[in-house]
Amino acid sequence: MTVSPQPVLETVRVLANERIATGVGLLTLQAPRIARSVEPGQFVHLRIGVGRTEILRRPFSVHRAVGDRIEILYQVVGAGTARLARVGPADEDLDAIGPVGHGWDVPAGTSHALLVTGGLGAAPMGMLAERLAAQGVACVVAMGAPTAERLVARELFESVARKVVLTTDDGTAGTRGLVTVATERLLAEERFDMVYACGPEGMQRAVASQAAVAGVRCQVSLERLMACGIGACLSCVVTTTNGRKRACVDGPVFYAEEVVWYASEVPPKH
Ligand SMILES: Cc1cc2nc3c(=O)[nH]c(=O)nc-3n(C[C@H](O)[C@H](O)[C@H](O)COP(=O)(O)OP(=O)(O)OC[C@H]3O[C@@H](n4cnc5c(N)ncnc54)[C@H](O)[C@@H]3O)c2cc1C
Ligand code: FES
Repeated sequence: MTVSPQPVLETVRVLANERIATGVGLLTLQAPRIARSVEPGQFVHLRIGVGRTEILRRPFSVHRAVGDRIEILYQVVGAGTARLARVGPADEDLDAIGPVGHGWDVPAGTSHALLVTGGLGAAPMGMLAERLAAQGVACVVAMGAPTAERLVARELFESVARKVVLTTDDGTAGTRGLVTVATERLLAEERFDMVYACGPEGMQRAVASQAAVAGVRCQVSLERLMACGIGACLSCVVTTTNGRKRACVDGPVFYAEEVVWYASEVPPKH
């Protein structure tokens, strides 16, 4: 694993906040210190406001970091993200702790990677795809979403990947059905040396099992409810073959072979 930079507390300025699909927004924040040091797969713990519903920070993956800016892809699921959808340049009470956690590992010698995204699982993959392409790693991206407009970040992946394979639940783009049908085929047809997966935990678990059958190592990015985000409260436990770990500081990215999959540790579905 790469050595992670120490997180900082940074006041952030909202530069843009666009709705890019139903219930999904793209937030661009000026956050020079975090943007300079964040690694693919790390996240920020964002204070969204000062009201009662915003007492706890909310974790969001850094989708991209460009210059002094970071981009966050978010889905509105509750009070905090509904508030996030309303923030704009006039909001001055946002700050972020970041970059937090261990991101994706890119071992030396990686030359052909499979990235698998389910819905908002595309969020922590943007920087990864760009980084892999910059390092000359050939990438295939398999994307799954309920419908075509929810294939978020599709253009980014198409601009850097060797191939993008699309699946949708309703058949409005790519093949109708689950992304795991596409990944099973890809893993049988091509030889990858790493699989990176993010999306609903059931999907990640299925991809991890397919990768194991194909003899390819796999990393997953796990979501847990997070309170402190600094390793102190143990609200974000992930059971692993090496004991119980904290998704906020030991993850959110784990090698799949280490994860003991317990549905009860996963946040309620939204
Ligand atoms: C490391 C990490 C990275 C994340 N990155 C992103 C991202 O890039 N984009 C994005 O849209 N979301 C991301 N999430 C999930 C996001 O943090 C939650 O959706 C958000 O905190 C919900 O806040 P809320 O106030 O709107 O919802 P709440 O009112 O708190 O909850 C509404 C619903 O969302 C569920 N929920 C709450 N917190 C989480 C959580 N941490 N994970 C999953 N479900 C949750 C609740 O169980 C409930 O069902 C990430 C979570 C983690 C742990
Ligand atoms: S969120 Fe508190 S230990 Fe991880």
